[in-house]
Amino acid sequence: MKEKLLDIKNRVIKDLKSVSDVKKLDDIRVSCLGKKGELTLVLREMGKLSKEDRPIIGALANDIRKEIEEAIQKCKEELETEILKKNLENEKLDITINMEKSILGHRHPLIQTKEELEDLFIKMGFRVIDGPEVESVANNFDLLNAPKNHPSRDLSDTFYIDDKTLLRTQTSPVQIRAMKEYGAPLRMVCSGRVFRSDEVDATHSPMFHQLEGLIVDENISMANLFETLNVFVKTLFGDEMKTRFRPHYFPFTEPSAEVDVTCTSCGGSGCSSCNQTGWSMELLGCGMVHPNVLKNCGIDPEKYSGFAFGMGIDRIAMVKYKINDIRMLFDNDSRFLNQF
Ligand code: DAH
Repeated sequence: MKEKLLDIKNRVIKDLKSVSDVKKLDDIRVSCLGKKGELTLVLREMGKLSKEDRPIIGALANDIRKEIEEAIQKCKEELETEILKKNLENEKLDITINMEKSILGHRHPLIQTKEELEDLFIKMGFRVIDGPEVESVANNFDLLNAPKNHPSRDLSDTFYIDDKTLLRTQTSPVQIRAMKEYGAPLRMVCSGRVFRSDEVDATHSPMFHQLEGLIVDENISMANLFETLNVFVKTLFGDEMKTRFRPHYFPFTEPSAEVDVTCTSCGGSGCSSCNQTGWSMELLGCGMVHPNVLKNCGIDPEKYSGFAFGMGIDRIAMVKYKINDIRMLFDNDSRFLNQF
């Protein structure tokens, strides 16, 4: 019986060495220590032993049982550690992996300027209105009081689609649309692309951008116009910026003016870029809305008056960011755009 016990122990210890999964380990345990296991069956036969042998074999059997149990337990722990290690390795998330970085862009300087201008006027109580780029001749010229022989109507200046339709040459037709739709009182700005048949050079492009503003209400005067535009210029460029209103002609306003601002290159002392005048020329056009324009839109000019203004957004972006060639705004060269 002693040999039988030692044989069982040696076989189990040997089998445990080649065990590679928990299921097989459990099979070994059951076949040795289970109810019908080899060792259990041997121990059941202890009764058949002589009185002298019984305690000796009994002690040996207990030792072997303990040894086998410990060996199985140790094998189980090793297997579990092994499995955990394998799982950790397989499920490892390598956060250092070198991903292709996507480059985050930003708003075009022109759009930044447009949004800054709109925000500024929104704070002053203006609403933002949109208008189409393909416009009627009526809205772009006739209802804006432009004389039939006005040079801007010429084919050499304007892109006509047919004799009643054109690519808008200014954002002013949105004034007409807004007054017709909403009537008075009204306080609106609009912005967008405009088109003129111009040769491309450092300051001209056949497509550029304007922002238009209009206020119609009772008792609106030139004083309101001056103050609004002064606040606007100082908020945009800084308190040291001065404005100069020069009389001008626009068909849709009377009186009309062009507004110059302090030259940004010399701060007003006079330099070559401002022809020694100290002024950056023609930042915007403005004036008191012509009574004919109010009438054309069904607003009573005896009761209401208004002022309007229009400016080139490209021009303002160029002054603001000290860009000396309008073409840079439209070339989409990332080396240029990345600076903003
Ligand atoms: N539409 C004019 C232009 O394109 C700009 C302008 C001038 C707009 C005076 C106005 C204004 O609303 O009152 O040159």
